[in-house]
Amino acid sequence: MAEADAATSAAPVSGLDPFSDEYILDSYPQHAQLRDAGPVVLLEKYQVYATGRYAQVRAVLEDAATYCSGAGVGIDNYHKVPPWRPPSMVLETDPPEHTRNRAVISRTLSPAALRALRAGFEEEAAMMVDSLLARDSFDAVKDMGEAFPLKVFANAIGIPKEGRHHLVAYGNMVFNGMGPHNKLYDQAMANPDEVSGWVWEACQRRNLTPDGLGIRIFDAVDSGILTDEEGARLVRSFLSAGTDTTAAAIVNALYCFATNPGQWQALRERPDLARAAFEEILRFESPFQTFFRTTTRDAELAGVRIPAGEKVMLSLGAANRDPRQWSDPDRFDITRTTTGHVGFGGGIHGCVGQMMARLELEVILRAMAARVSTIEITGEPRRMLHNTLRGMEYLPVRLRA
Ligand code: HEM
Repeated sequence: MAEADAATSAAPVSGLDPFSDEYILDSYPQHAQLRDAGPVVLLEKYQVYATGRYAQVRAVLEDAATYCSGAGVGIDNYHKVPPWRPPSMVLETDPPEHTRNRAVISRTLSPAALRALRAGFEEEAAMMVDSLLARDSFDAVKDMGEAFPLKVFANAIGIPKEGRHHLVAYGNMVFNGMGPHNKLYDQAMANPDEVSGWVWEACQRRNLTPDGLGIRIFDAVDSGILTDEEGARLVRSFLSAGTDTTAAAIVNALYCFATNPGQWQALRERPDLARAAFEEILRFESPFQTFFRTTTRDAELAGVRIPAGEKVMLSLGAANRDPRQWSDPDRFDITRTTTGHVGFGGGIHGCVGQMMARLELEVILRAMAARVSTIEITGEPRRMLHNTLRGMEYLPVRLRA
């Protein structure tokens, strides 16, 4: 299936620039153009292939042998451009290393481990919502999106309390660093040593709390599966992948409900829909908009030829609104069936932290559904300009009890 054959054709060329301010600020019409330009296109500006159609995004995700991650999941090909940091041992590796490393992380995030976190997360969510209700208005980005994971997620991993704001900056580096070397890349990389230095220190065994999930990674060091340095790098995977993504998801959740008050009332009436609502938020406003794969051999995707060694951009944001897959995709509906959305990716690299993210969002949505009657945007929101993530830079909100 993946082998090139005589029936294939060259990809149509597209002038779209998914990393431009225009595209980021007004993504959905541009996603439609990307999908309509063809199942696979060549982005002229960057000379990389791209797909925004659901069927092709899914096909690539499911075929890690042809579309690998080891050359980086950003636009840079690590076989040609050296990575700015030692690559992730999960996100940016291929089997068999990927399989071994992912198993270590998965074990740490076991259902039992997550169940043990639930009561504490619920308590924090309730306190956060109560304190936000007491304020006239607040910035959902700082006071909720960032505040919640920086507290509960970072506590769960067991990293030091002092300096946690560096996690947001680090996620910013990791995810903006997946884009081209544009102004967003440069801004994110403004202070690399201090931020990376703090994160690396936080990942060391000596700095992890004895009851957190991070230290459990070092069980694999003790049993000889990983070296000490690899253990710290796997802890780093938690921190880089789990903060900014969740923060964006929380903010997108507030935005979706504030702009769709009928859906908020529906959730208040049926708080048991909290999990389903989160899946719809991921589909409708996917925090992770794009990432890349690299072809390991000459490939064929929907009849389009992609030579070996080429970067292929997957637009998760476009695939999650592809009308070829979803009925009425631009409608936010927490009762729809979202099975198969690619907000967490898919295939062997599908988000390994998804149950943690679900837990965080579920407890927040439930705490809000029990207490908040309306969510109102009180000023002009500012969309975040970001190479990879979709979220807000500023979202002023008022909650009413
Ligand atoms: C709403 C929040 C989140 C979203 C939208 C999200 C999204 C994603 C996506 C799309 C991928 C696939 C990347 C690829 O295929 O190249 C991924 C992978 C990953 N995520 Fe998440 N994520 C979230 C939260 C988390 C959390 C909380 C953690 C940690 C507990 C985490 C850890 C990871 C790791 C380690 C990977 C790499 C998995 C692999 O390559 O096998 N993520 N995530």
